[in-house]
Amino acid sequence: MCGIVGYIGKKQAAPVILDGLARLEYRGYDSAGMAVFDGEKVNVTKAVGRLKVLEELTHGGETMPGLAGIGHTRWATHGAPNDVNSHPHFNKGKTITVVHNGIIENYISLRNKLTKKGYSFVSETDTEVAAQMLDYYYNGNPLETILKVLHRIEGSYALGIMFADHPGEIFAARKGSPLIVGQSSDGCFIASDVPAILRYTRKVYFVDEQEIVRLEADHMHFYTMDEEEIEKEATTIDWDANAAEKAGYEHFMLKEMYEQPKTVTDTLTPRLKKDRIEIEELGLGDEEIRQIRKIHIVACGSAYHAGVTGKYVLEGLARIPVEVDLASEFRYRNPILEEGAMVIAVSQSGETADTLAAMREAKLKGFQVLGIVNVVGSSIAREADHVMYTWAGPEIAVATTKAYSAQLIAFYLLAVKFAFVRETIDDTMYRLLLRDLRRLPDQIELLLNSKEKIQHFANRYIGARDVFFIGRGIDYAISLEGSLKLKEISYIHSEAYAAGELKHGTISLIEEGTLVAAVSTQPALYQKTISNMVEVRARGAFLLAVTNVGNREIEKVSDYTIYIPETNPFFTNSLAIIPLQLFGYYVAVGKGCDVDKPRNLAKSVTVE
Ligand code: G6P
Repeated sequence: MCGIVGYIGKKQAAPVILDGLARLEYRGYDSAGMAVFDGEKVNVTKAVGRLKVLEELTHGGETMPGLAGIGHTRWATHGAPNDVNSHPHFNKGKTITVVHNGIIENYISLRNKLTKKGYSFVSETDTEVAAQMLDYYYNGNPLETILKVLHRIEGSYALGIMFADHPGEIFAARKGSPLIVGQSSDGCFIASDVPAILRYTRKVYFVDEQEIVRLEADHMHFYTMDEEEIEKEATTIDWDANAAEKAGYEHFMLKEMYEQPKTVTDTLTPRLKKDRIEIEELGLGDEEIRQIRKIHIVACGSAYHAGVTGKYVLEGLARIPVEVDLASEFRYRNPILEEGAMVIAVSQSGETADTLAAMREAKLKGFQVLGIVNVVGSSIAREADHVMYTWAGPEIAVATTKAYSAQLIAFYLLAVKFAFVRETIDDTMYRLLLRDLRRLPDQIELLLNSKEKIQHFANRYIGARDVFFIGRGIDYAISLEGSLKLKEISYIHSEAYAAGELKHGTISLIEEGTLVAAVSTQPALYQKTISNMVEVRARGAFLLAVTNVGNREIEKVSDYTIYIPETNPFFTNSLAIIPLQLFGYYVAVGKGCDVDKPRNLAKSVTVE
C-alpha cells in the first residue's frame, strides 16, 4: 500500500526510481509520480493509472535528468486517485517536495491553521499539508525543520523529502509505516520494502520508529526525534534476487502457488527434528507451555483465515481454548486477556496496521506476543517478543498463497508441539502427526501437478455471478480462504458459509446453476456436509466437492469431485486449499483480470 523509492548518487535517479517502484507494484496503487532535482530545480511528473503511464510520459526517466529524486506509487486514502492527488506534493515554488505513505490524522486542523496563514492547497490529500508545513517552518536547516513538523503531525508516516536548496541530500523519516534505506558504491536509497532496491544493493538499514535519515550520495546519517545522531547496524539481505522475479511463469501468483511445496518444507525443516518438534524461537520452556491457559490469535485477511484453522488445530490437538480475532476488531474492543493467555499475531508483511496495533494493545496489557511473520525485519517481527518466521520468501502477488500455506504450517507445528508437551496426544499419535507433516510438501506437489483438471473446470465458471463455499469445522476455515481467493482476483461475488448455517438465510440465494463448492475433509462430518449438499442441490445448485481420497460416497451428490491425498484431518487445509487457489486463479485468468494486482487491493495494508 503506497510505495516509496528515493535515490541520491552517481546514477541517473529517474530510472532507478521507476525500476524500484515497479518492484513495489505488488503493494497496490492507483497512481504514480516522481520528483527529480536537475541541478537547478526540481521537476515533478505524476500520472494516474499504472506505472507504465509514468514511464511513457518520462521516456523511461530520460526526460527527467538528475542525480537525486523521490518517487511514489499511491493507494488513495484522502481524495480520489487523480493526477493532482498523486505524490510527490510540494510547496509553491516546488522547492520542497514530499512523498508519503501513511495517514496524517490531524491534517484538517493543520490545513486550517496554514490556510489562515495564507497557504492554499491544490490537492485533497493529507500529504500536501506536510509539504506546506515544511515550507512554513523552513529556516534553511532541513533537519531542524523536518523535526519541527514531525512533532506536530499525528498519525503515521514514511516520508521521502527533498529541499531544492540542499541538492546533495534527501531525507527520510518513519513512524508507523514501513521504510528502509540502503547503500551501494553508487549511491543511497530509500524504499518501502527491500525488493525495490535489491538490484542495486544488499546492504540495508531498517529505519526504526521515529527515526530520521539524511542521505547523501555516499553517506547516510540517522537521527532521533531529538536531533541526536545515532549509529545503526546494516543488515545484509541474503535472499535470492530471483525470488522476486516471475521466472517464466505467467503471473507471480502462479509462480508462488508452485513454490508452496518448498515453502512448506522450508517452514517445517528448521523445527522438525528426527523424532520431535523444536521451536527454539518460541522462547517458552515445557513448563511454560503447560501453563498456557488461553491463546488469542489476531490477524487480517488470509492470515486471519490461517488463524481460524489455527484455532481448530490448537483446540483439537492441544486442548487449549483459542479465540481468533480480526485485528481491526481486537484493537478496539478492550479485549479481556486473563493471566496465562498467549497472544499470536499473524502477518505475511509484518506491516499490517491493524495487526500491529492489536499486538501493541496486547503488549500494553502486559502480555507477551508471538509473531508468525514472513518478512524478516518487518515492524511486527521487530516488536513481537518472539518471532516464528514463515520461510516463504518474498511474496509479490497481492493474493497470498505461499505465505498462507506457511502460516498453516506454523500453527500445525505449535499445535503438535503443545499437544505433546501437555500430553493430550500420546507417543504414537505424535509420530503419526510428524509423519503426516513430512508428507505434505509432496502431496501439495501432486495436487499442483493436476492443475489441468481445475483449469478446465474453472473455464466453465468465468461467467458466474455468485459462488458459495461451504464446510464445517476446518472445512469452514478452508472455505473462507477459498472464497476470498476467488472473489479478490476474479471480482465474482463469493461467500463462505459454515455449512450448518446455510439454511438460516443464504440458501434463499441458491438458484438453478449456482456454483456451490463444498469442502468435506473431516470424516466425522462427512454425513453432515452431505446433507447440506443435498439441500442446495435440490434447489438447483451445481456442486463442486473437495474431499479426501476414498470418500466415494460424495460423488452421489456432487457434480464434480476433487480428491486430496490422505493426511491427518487436522492438516487437510494445506491440501484442500490448493485446488481452490487454482480455481480462483484460472477463473480470474479466464476473465482477463489483472491477477497479480487486483483493483483496489494492496499487498501490505499499512493504514487502518
Ligand atoms: C492484504 C493482503 C492479503 C493479506 C492481508 C493481511 O489484504 O492483500 O493477502 O492476507 O492484507 O496481510 P498480512 O501482511 O498482515 O498477512
